[in-house]
Amino acid sequence: MSTALPPWPYPRWIAHRGAGKLAPENTMAAFRLGAQYGWRMFETDAKLSSDGVVFLMHDSHLERTTNGHGVAGDLPWGQLAQLDAGGWHSRQYAGEPLPTLENVARWCLANHYHLNIEIKPTPGTALETGRAVAQLAARLWQSQAVAPLLSSFQPEALQGARKAAPQLPRALLVDAFADGSGDAALAQAASLGCCALVLNHALWNAALVTRAHAAGLRCVSYTPNDEWAAQRLIDLGTDAVITDRVELFSPAA
Ligand code: G3P
Ligand code: CA
Repeated sequence: MSTALPPWPYPRWIAHRGAGKLAPENTMAAFRLGAQYGWRMFETDAKLSSDGVVFLMHDSHLERTTNGHGVAGDLPWGQLAQLDAGGWHSRQYAGEPLPTLENVARWCLANHYHLNIEIKPTPGTALETGRAVAQLAARLWQSQAVAPLLSSFQPEALQGARKAAPQLPRALLVDAFADGSGDAALAQAASLGCCALVLNHALWNAALVTRAHAAGLRCVSYTPNDEWAAQRLIDLGTDAVITDRVELFSPAA
């Protein structure tokens, strides 16, 4: 017997970390640039500052994408907010700050854009980060018909989100299958009450898409960056694609 597929109120095309290659990833500049290219849904990475502010950054450490040093989650927001999160990318973006989730959420809400918030906890903080992201998202989107999609590689983060705001849609991210077949990932996504499974794009095949849909899971992939890879996923019948190539694909397709 198959489970009904949950609604998918999101676009098929999702811009990874904003326009995260053409502009410094996860900054307001990257989201704005993605919007200029016509994109209407953005993936981003959320973590907690030491004083509980949800901000957007991919890595646990500050060095690659800011002029700071050490573990990002060890600093209070007041210090994180002073960092340059754009100069590493190019001179044009020097001084671009790290954004809070709330800032980006308000911009998305004002412009009717969708958000996929990946809960990317500092090690050891999965449960509380999941809880904090979901609480904030539930408050900001409370009067909206379409909520943001919360996702994570970490089941504990999704459990925290589920506890804090069970009504928000969740997705399990998986980079590689422990069992080869994907059955364990399907079972885990279902047990976490997820509406979607977000896989490394190379893992999807026709049989797995059929099994995921039959299990009531939408099929999403990251991050196909060439036309052949993206077309393969569309032909397989997957529901959405997260890509870096905002300048290559047409998000209205
Ligand atoms: O959310 C999909 C994708 O962003 C997961 O990988 O490392 O780019 O956060 P990563
Ligand atoms: Ca991510």
